[in-house]
Amino acid sequence: MSEIRKIAIMTSGGDAPGMNACIRALVRSANGHRLLIDGIIRGYEGMINGDFEPMNSRTVANIIHRGGTVLKTARSKAFRTKEGREQAYEQLKINQIDAVVAIGGNGTFTGADIFAKEFDIPFIGIPGTIDNDLYGTDYTIGFDTAVNTAIEAVDKIRDTADSHDRLFFIEVMGRDSGYIALYTGIGVGAGTILLPETDTDYDELVNILKADVKRKKLFNLVIVAEGNKTGGAVKTAEEVQARFDHYETKVAIIGHLQRGGAPTAADRLLASRLGYAAIEGLLNGERNVMVGIMNQNVVYTTLNEAITKEKKINPYLIEMSGILAT
Ligand code: F6P
Repeated sequence: MSEIRKIAIMTSGGDAPGMNACIRALVRSANGHRLLIDGIIRGYEGMINGDFEPMNSRTVANIIHRGGTVLKTARSKAFRTKEGREQAYEQLKINQIDAVVAIGGNGTFTGADIFAKEFDIPFIGIPGTIDNDLYGTDYTIGFDTAVNTAIEAVDKIRDTADSHDRLFFIEVMGRDSGYIALYTGIGVGAGTILLPETDTDYDELVNILKADVKRKKLFNLVIVAEGNKTGGAVKTAEEVQARFDHYETKVAIIGHLQRGGAPTAADRLLASRLGYAAIEGLLNGERNVMVGIMNQNVVYTTLNEAITKEKKINPYLIEMSGILAT
């Protein structure tokens, strides 16, 4: 195994609160092992364009509490092409990089998995996405902050929904995953939660709302995941209104608010642990894996498994949320 002297780190795909805390942990852990570190600006785009900057413990001072990513991020189209990846590898060689650590989600690791098979460069992935949709870790960096942001927003919507006796359909992020919706819904005590993982039957939804009216619920909150298969909050509101006009109905889409802001304590801790474990793993010979934490233990999962295996939503939580909403 060739010796690792210099690593490159980057963030890629959608940003997530806690990425900066992870960058700090990576740089300081690598520094502790006397490795040289370059930061790649804008993920794979920067790798292709040779946008590398040296980093050290001081360049990551005062960022642990900041949202976004100081390394910037992008969703690179060029890296999906063979020519793009060849150019990226060239740049890694020019900059004498021995290994790459990438904080990102599904798209990032799909690219990394292909790249690691084409070129001989060790790759370590760190799960950073608000969606929490990666197999091989209980939580991804940014998820806890996003849920806290969504809960704070819904608490405010609740005040006005209550004052006016209205029905609100509130859309939270999650392109293919209902984790944010489920955790937010449980956290705010939503009447109903619609997820991409379960089928939505509008007549059934209307029956639940009717039963809530009978229970003397004067207002109601329905949380809809962005990726809900039959449609988001706007479509759901239309379908329900066409069947049931008891309430004055409103829609709120929380959107990118969920991606910003200072990371929570849980995200700072997770990000710090994963950054540290990524460097330890790399130096202990881990290759082309994603580092995660499951049941409080550090685990390494192949990039391929992380992107192909489904991280299932706990059906017990779905059942519980229904009962607690009655
Ligand atoms: O993957 C995280 C995520 O926030 C998804 O929940 C959402 O669908 C997507 O990114 C939005 O991406 P963009 O900011 O590129 O529109």
